[in-house]
Amino acid sequence: MPPRNLVLVGFMGSGKTTVGRALAALLGWTFVDTDWEIVRAADGVGIPELFARYGETAFRERETSAVQAVCVGGKQVIATGGGVLLRPENAPLLQSAGLVVWLTARPEVVVSRVEAGRKSRPILAAGTNEEVPLLTHVLTLLGQRGPGYQAVADLVVDSSDQKPDALARHIARKVGLL
Ligand code: S3P
Repeated sequence: MPPRNLVLVGFMGSGKTTVGRALAALLGWTFVDTDWEIVRAADGVGIPELFARYGETAFRERETSAVQAVCVGGKQVIATGGGVLLRPENAPLLQSAGLVVWLTARPEVVVSRVEAGRKSRPILAAGTNEEVPLLTHVLTLLGQRGPGYQAVADLVVDSSDQKPDALARHIARKVGLL
């Protein structure tokens, strides 16, 4: 039986959106992203603004609602926010939606990918300053979050050295959809 959906989890900058788009195009499935779902449900208010106005706890509540909403469907590639597993109830929701792929990347690759746009990611913007460089903050967060990703992963794929299209083909083959 093919999986109902493919769910991409992983840290910021691990390629969930770019690989997810490529994978959806390859399979002819719908691409959805819980971050976009959150913004849509908030009438277009962006993520940095949601953090600034209501704080992280309220953001995580919205994120769980987004997970619940997207997990109903099928034939979707579902990209999730990097902090989605901070709320334990999201894990079984994502696992029952389909097959979970954990995208990883080497810490310095993550940094190179997120550096320019770090202001759009409140979790990165908040944790860094002159004393705490981005790489240090990323390493701390990776240490905290790694076990959560690991616990739900059916498949682990390192995105550091391959282009989104090649990664999409690799994942599709691994899960028996190509
Ligand atoms: C977050 C990751 C972001 C977004 C929000 C919080 C996190 O998603 O959900 O800024 O806590 O890691 P991406 O992983 O798509 O950047």
